[in-house]
Amino acid sequence: MLTLSGLWALWQQFYPPAPTFTEKDVGPGSQVGRVFIITGANSGTVPNQLRIGFALVKLLYPTGATIYLAGRSPAKIQAAIAEVSSVLPPPTTPSNLKPLLLDLSDLKTVKPAAELFAAQETRLDILWNNAGNGCPPGSVTKQGLEAHIGANCVAPLLFTQELLPMLRAAAQTATPSSVRIVWSGSIQIDMSAPQNGVDFTRIEKPTTVTYEDYGASKAGNWFFAVEGARRWGRYGIVSVCQNPGNLYTGIYANENRLFVAFLKRFVLYEAKYGAYTMLYSGLSPEVSQDTNGAYIWPWGRIQPIARPDVLNAASEGKAAELWEWCETQWKQHV
Ligand SMILES: NC(=O)c1ccc[n+]([C@@H]2O[C@H](COP(=O)([O-])OP(=O)(O)OC[C@H]3O[C@@H](n4cnc5c(N)ncnc54)[C@H](OP(=O)(O)O)[C@@H]3O)[C@@H](O)[C@H]2O)c1
Repeated sequence: MLTLSGLWALWQQFYPPAPTFTEKDVGPGSQVGRVFIITGANSGTVPNQLRIGFALVKLLYPTGATIYLAGRSPAKIQAAIAEVSSVLPPPTTPSNLKPLLLDLSDLKTVKPAAELFAAQETRLDILWNNAGNGCPPGSVTKQGLEAHIGANCVAPLLFTQELLPMLRAAAQTATPSSVRIVWSGSIQIDMSAPQNGVDFTRIEKPTTVTYEDYGASKAGNWFFAVEGARRWGRYGIVSVCQNPGNLYTGIYANENRLFVAFLKRFVLYEAKYGAYTMLYSGLSPEVSQDTNGAYIWPWGRIQPIARPDVLNAASEGKAAELWEWCETQWKQHV
């Protein structure tokens, strides 16, 4: 049951104030020499329905970074690279956009993706663990894990662990607090996640109720931000989780069209706004070692998770428990 303050927190995430950290704060050429990975950064197929990761690539393109677009469809990644790099007029310091094949529903693709990345780079400055989606009841990953916890938690945590040496290498020479892991939360943590965020009995089974299981996986992402900060903060790595906001993206592709039209009219924003939340999380100087493990509201505000049970669960051992549970899952397969 949400309290008045909980409802107020929801309202503020549904209707955020204007973004304060945008492309104007990340100027052309400002990220030359830095290396980023954005998962789920391919383009979509519906006009005006960008994906958040792709919108972030567009924002970052003039900055001169090396940006890996990680996803499960080579054709969609190439289409995204072609679309972004054909922008006119071309920026003076275009980023170097590169594909990285990664299917988070199949643990067997995760280590090879990290190895392919490590074969090409010596550092990783920011990892945006952005890919994620909702799945119907009965869904499982290739290895039989509940579809949301498998693709949104187990595989991204494995991917991140495999990339840790590259993040640590970057942190040795980078500006303090600039090497970051950005996890993806959602308003569904507050609205739909089970009591204490994750119900360990249901994550052992196929998807039961889409929104609840999706919400649990997003609470899991916040747990990883907290636990990542605790484990990896000593290496100079900042780990945070952001709710990008409610955006009109491919995530609504399988929902009822009338329902989506209603949402679009009253609560959904352009994907670009979600990219602003991600930009803030990855690059704003307000995010630092001092705020390591923070939760970030749209379009870039450090605020706590509104649900007290979920907030407390992280510090009462659930974050570490989920982390260790994920490790036992992938150890059986990779
Ligand atoms: N849109 C919202 O209102 C909203 C709100 C809160 C949180 N979020 C979160 O924001 C993130 C981005 O969502 P979005 O709105 O941009 O959704 P989207 O349009 O559905 O895009 C999701 C992206 O993730 C990729 N992806 C999905 N499953 C994958 C897998 N198993 N392996 C590799 N890539 C996979 C998709 O690739 P394919 O094209 O191959 O499917 C796509 O690039 C997600 O984590 C989502 O949970 C979104």
